Amino acid sequence: MRTTVLAVVMVMCVMMVAADVKPQRDFNLQRFAGKWYRVGLAYDSPSFAPYRDMVKASMGIIKALPNGNANLTMWEARPGDCRSHSYHYEATGVPGQFTYFSQRHGIVKDVTVVDTNYNEYAVVLKHKVFNREYTQVSLYGRSLKMKTDIIQRFKGFALSQGLSRESILIPPPAENCPPSGSGR
Ligand SMILES: *[C@@H]1O[C@H](CO)[C@@H](O)[C@H](O)[C@H]1NC(C)=O
Repeated sequence: MRTTVLAVVMVMCVMMVAADVKPQRDFNLQRFAGKWYRVGLAYDSPSFAPYRDMVKASMGIIKALPNGNANLTMWEARPGDCRSHSYHYEATGVPGQFTYFSQRHGIVKDVTVVDTNYNEYAVVLKHKVFNREYTQVSLYGRSLKMKTDIIQRFKGFALSQGLSRESILIPPPAENCPPSGSGR
């Protein structure tokens, strides 16, 4: 009984955290479009653990679509391998908030651009409401070099979402991924 009450309280806390997050005010998809590097990642799903040490700061390209949706192409470097993945982000009624279908997990997740100044950095939260395991915070940079205060802000936000300090990665740059001359 006590365990049940505790579990309910914990679920409510997670719900409140998720509901609390607001997208970037006056979010502008056109300005958000283009090339980014994922220079930071906070993710503590157990299924991700085996890959943690392999993560590299890889490149992604956001394409704004006329209907307010967006397509993301993201490269992923693995030892001896570089592949691209495509994601289709569907607009919700709220600018800066999208949903997408995760092939990897077979569920729809929410994507919120929490904070961006468009020309330097963006903090992006991905989660599945009511399911803490899928919460992921990314720091995108227009370049691979990121200011310390922006990294601190990203870490602070990840911690505020219940992610642990150990779950926060600032990965090294991907090498030759996407391969040079591949039309980026
Ligand atoms: C966006 O992604 C969807 C789904 O992957 C694809 O069908 C569509 O052609 C893409 N649109 C553009 C303009 O790239």
